[in-house]
Amino acid sequence: MRMRLLLQAHVLYVLLVAKGSLIANLSAANCYKSEHLKKPENWALVEKAKYIYIAGFFLTVSPESIQLVAEHAAANNKVFLMNLSAPFICEFFRDAQEKVLPYADYIFGNETEARIFSKVRGWETENVEEIALKISQLPLASGKQKRIAVITQGADPVVVAEDGKVKTFPVILLPKEKLVDTNGAGDAFVGGFLSQLVQGKSIEDCVKAGCYAANVIIQQSGCTYPEKPDFN
Ligand SMILES: Nc1ncnc2c1ncn2[C@@H]1O[C@H](COP(=O)(O)OP(=O)(O)OP(=O)(O)O)[C@@H](O)[C@H]1O
Ligand SMILES: *[C@@H]1O[C@H](CO)[C@@H](O)[C@H](O)[C@H]1NC(C)=O
Ligand SMILES: *[C@@H]1O[C@H](CO)[C@@H](O)[C@H](O)[C@H]1NC(C)=O
Repeated sequence: MRMRLLLQAHVLYVLLVAKGSLIANLSAANCYKSEHLKKPENWALVEKAKYIYIAGFFLTVSPESIQLVAEHAAANNKVFLMNLSAPFICEFFRDAQEKVLPYADYIFGNETEARIFSKVRGWETENVEEIALKISQLPLASGKQKRIAVITQGADPVVVAEDGKVKTFPVILLPKEKLVDTNGAGDAFVGGFLSQLVQGKSIEDCVKAGCYAANVIIQQSGCTYPEKPDFN
């Protein structure tokens, strides 16, 4: 439950930016230290969580905090998920990113981020399927069995790489006149994906719910969605 609330808070943030009505003062966020995380009342939440998702943006603030949580997840058989978050993270926070990715059971990103990620590593491919495969095959921390890479491509199929294989899943197509605002699509996708993952559903179901949630969000400006989702 808590995880879902956090995700919604994040989506809200993204959409407020979209409406141009948020004047963000990140000075508090940028002061985050691992000492905050280590406080018993905060660490208790980490211990309670079974699935932990951290967007890459936080690498610019407190990589030590991410590292602590990632190691905790590995030591306790928890699912740890990350997002590439932005091309600049892949380029300028490469070292911090590289340190934590071995712990990630799932890595999300969009096609632009995937291509920059590839370029920074000199992989010499812009092919998203190939890149997804290579991301899924990056080194794993000890105790981790495998990694799944999930790359979204707007209206093009979602690419999932797992066990040395790549699968693609078509998104729900939307007539142009219904597309209102694509901001937050990626976050909504991950939210939908996680809603099924935490219920032990298949990757196919996770992607389906991801596409459903993203499809709802891109049809409105701002963070609103039906009271009762019609996903099944
Ligand atoms: N034009 C579109 N038509 C249909 N579905 C779309 C479209 N754009 C985005 N989506 C849905 O949203 C998902 C994520 O989109 P996208 O790859 O654009 O994420 P992103 O670039 O990370 O988004 P964000 O704008 O939040 O950064 C897609 O997999 C798809 O399900
Ligand atoms: C992917 O996300 C980045 C932000 O991280 C954004 O700048 C870029 O336009 C997105 N790419 C596509 C194709 O939507
Ligand atoms: C990754 O996370 C960032 C920040 O939360 C978000 O803007 C982006 O849409 C996400 N993309 C995917 C594919 O998860």
